Amino acid sequence: MENSWYKEMAVYQIWPRSFKDGNGDGIGDLYGVLDKLDYIKSIGVDAIWFSPLYPSPNADYGYDIADYKNISPEYGDLELFKKVLDGAHERGMRVFMDLVVNHTSDEHPWFKESLKGKDNPYHDYYIWRKGKGDKKPPNNWLSTFEGGAWEYNEELDEYYLHVFAKKQPDLNMDNPKVREEVKSIMRFWLDMGVDGFREDVITFISKAEGLPDGFPLPVATGIEHYKKGPHIHEYLREFREVLNDYDCFVVGESPMTGSKDALEFTAGEDRELDMMISFDHMQADCIMTDTIATPFSLRKMKKAFTHWQEDLYGKAWNALYIENHDHPRIINRYGSLKYRVESAKMLATMCYLQCGTPFVYQGQEIGMTNITLSSIDQFRDVVTFNNERLFKKFGFSDKKYLEIANRTSRENARTPVQWDNSQYAGFSTVEPWFYVNPNYTEINVADAEKDPNSILNYYRKLLKFRKEHKVAIYGDYKEHYKNSRSLYVYERNLDSQRLLVVSSFTEKHVQFEAPEGFDLSKGELVLSNYRMCPVTKNSFVTRPYETRVYLFDEV
Ligand code: NOJ
Repeated sequence: MENSWYKEMAVYQIWPRSFKDGNGDGIGDLYGVLDKLDYIKSIGVDAIWFSPLYPSPNADYGYDIADYKNISPEYGDLELFKKVLDGAHERGMRVFMDLVVNHTSDEHPWFKESLKGKDNPYHDYYIWRKGKGDKKPPNNWLSTFEGGAWEYNEELDEYYLHVFAKKQPDLNMDNPKVREEVKSIMRFWLDMGVDGFREDVITFISKAEGLPDGFPLPVATGIEHYKKGPHIHEYLREFREVLNDYDCFVVGESPMTGSKDALEFTAGEDRELDMMISFDHMQADCIMTDTIATPFSLRKMKKAFTHWQEDLYGKAWNALYIENHDHPRIINRYGSLKYRVESAKMLATMCYLQCGTPFVYQGQEIGMTNITLSSIDQFRDVVTFNNERLFKKFGFSDKKYLEIANRTSRENARTPVQWDNSQYAGFSTVEPWFYVNPNYTEINVADAEKDPNSILNYYRKLLKFRKEHKVAIYGDYKEHYKNSRSLYVYERNLDSQRLLVVSSFTEKHVQFEAPEGFDLSKGELVLSNYRMCPVTKNSFVTRPYETRVYLFDEV
């Protein structure tokens, strides 16, 4: 079924545990979401994507699911979820669930059954193998989250595969019964009225036959054998058949996939995924993973965005994001704390005026920033502790690793949303499950509402502008001044309209000349993050983290 609504929408991502506590237990929940639906709508988004809401022992905060057809009691129940769903629909917003089917929790009944013996029908729901003898696992794969990718079970004398944490055993998607389960989960939520899914590491679900040894890397050894496995297209097409019965949408998370590979999944009428969450542009200040940090390179970021824009244009559709629950806050990474407000507005503009669907992560719209914790014990994430082991192995001191974790941990994105300047930032009436960033007294929704020049109000203008201008949604993309280390400049064109988006990534003043063919005096300045925006002879000098968007009609 061809639809274009997913191209025109903007999505708001909720990581439920830290969004808003509505029942006073210090944990975000669906009562809190229900209460904030008008706020979410007011940002100018058309959909909500919920990070997992299902029952989970929280070894990976919900990405380890113990029951796919229920809501975690921490967040509410199915009845409350339906209220939220109806409330969102009444306000014209769609709702997407996170579908995590590369793995389950080890506390899922399927896994518990699979432990009962090789003859148990659920045994083959997971990837169990004999070791190589001598207490050696079946291959050399390492998990992304926790040492080796195999966990030994003495009673069965077998190992199970977990490419993430030990408590996240991988499902055996080669088993047709497992695929039937996935389809049944999809139907369960779609029949309830949910509008689609964000599919977690979905391109990992097919593992290479024979599970061969991987190229020895310090982490995730073996990834080349499952990042796009032999049956991936077949399985995704099978799932698509279910989706085709509904007016819904799917975005797939796909680490280590380049823009050309993305086309295999996202191009054409019979595409397997409507969009893909890519990682390339999130690696402009790191190597492969956020933890191996490097200085920010604007050219690296631009190159990544431009590849995806150029390769997909007219063939497939981009998902546009700069924040989610897996990365530190973008202002700390690609922007500036000194120019927090300016850089937050600039980053949103440069990202969301590209061709694709904007995804806004909770708190991003008010310019939330990273938190600084004073000891490793204060962290909560399995990944932070895994990295600690790795860094210590390479001789890093506690102090040095703490610095690294503070800069690169994804927990930076998981602090409670700052609603106002009352105790606990208005997130809860009791001490929250995780630390509130002490800057909540200055950065919070209530204050942002009152200030016409706040980041929040800028997001509203930006998303409204995008929605009202087809050129911002469907226009083509052409980058200018590719070699500039300070400016990111691109144009968009559709019919007789043209946009020019100029963004500075430095506090230095930079001379900007309009590219050939543009006469700034004929353009309308439709968005900017500074009040007065003079132009002299078709050029201007950018101020710190300045962004300007010019619209040209009748070109
Ligand atoms: C990607 C999710 O976004 C992340 O939060 C999770 O830890 C892994 N997949 C494993 O499910």
